[in-house]
Amino acid sequence: MSNCGAFPDAGGIRPIKYDNGVLRLIDQRRLPTEEVWLEYTDYQEVAEAIRSMVVRGAPAIGVTAAYGAYFGALAIEAETYADFIREFDQVCEVLAGTRPTAINLCWALDRMKSLVQANTDQPVSNLKIGLEYEAMAINEDDIRINMKLGRNGAALLPDQVRILTHCNAGALATGGYGTALGVIRAAVAAGKEVAVIADETRPFLQGSRLTAWELQRDNIQTVLICDNMAGYLMSKGAIDAVIVGADRIAANGDVANKIGTYTVAVLAKEHNIPFYVAAPISTIDLQIADGSEIPIEERDIREVTHIGEQQLAPENIAVFNPAFDVTPARLVSAIITEHGVAQDNYTEQLAAFVRQG
Ligand code: MRU
Repeated sequence: MSNCGAFPDAGGIRPIKYDNGVLRLIDQRRLPTEEVWLEYTDYQEVAEAIRSMVVRGAPAIGVTAAYGAYFGALAIEAETYADFIREFDQVCEVLAGTRPTAINLCWALDRMKSLVQANTDQPVSNLKIGLEYEAMAINEDDIRINMKLGRNGAALLPDQVRILTHCNAGALATGGYGTALGVIRAAVAAGKEVAVIADETRPFLQGSRLTAWELQRDNIQTVLICDNMAGYLMSKGAIDAVIVGADRIAANGDVANKIGTYTVAVLAKEHNIPFYVAAPISTIDLQIADGSEIPIEERDIREVTHIGEQQLAPENIAVFNPAFDVTPARLVSAIITEHGVAQDNYTEQLAAFVRQG
């Protein structure tokens, strides 16, 4: 079964394709200059694809991990339920350990584990079939959810709007359509006049390599800027709203997202510009009271010292490379989800959205 073409009206690329037992991922490290698709059937290799950023973005790594869990299950030779679930838990642990900040990864794996836990009476062969369908369902649900949250977010925007976005929260970061870019796509589909200002997003350059690439493919007007230019544009009145995605949202509405998001939120506050976060319910972590508890991934310092093979810094310089930061809820104007838009009292509203499932 193919997941391509299931949503003909959903703009943008599908970065994750599954067909006939083979997972295909567009190698996001090679965009925008090369479109290379890599094939996977082994869960350890899927784990490595997530770790090394072949695929990235919170919902996309959740979807990919679900397929990885299925491949891991398929390779388990155990015949009893007890032996199978023990080995399956180990597979999920490996996948869960690939990237620590995005909660969607654990959310998707929990959904896969729940299916096994709910079917203690089934033979192992049936569990494997069920897991394949569950991974495909997680993938398709994600696209549907993004389209819904996109429409919810578009309703917040005026008819003419210049939107700053940071990192890539687009089709490439999800099963398809995107979260922050899903709101932008939905606004364009609703006939609004949208111009996007894309932060390049040092050090991994998700903005210039990925956001600019996918918006250009969809003919959405886009201007690329370096991260340190956002304040200047805001001071000139050139930005009407900020929309970003999220990797994890704490119970009180604090938001972990790509490093630099906090800086943009502070700038938006200073200039009275609304700062919106667009994310599915699967990004909300009610187990975490506030952002101080969110684990922040630190990545290889080479991302800072080099671009490709080009060295940008002296040998042996000390480098710090946190991949995410936390924006306190007080700087967030609204959190846009598929169940609605939370605009204040995040603790109550987010909990109510999560209860809706
Ligand atoms: O390190 P990345 O590229 O995985 O970080 C991605 C982001 O920070 C995105 O903004 C976030 O995952 C939301 S994607 C819909």
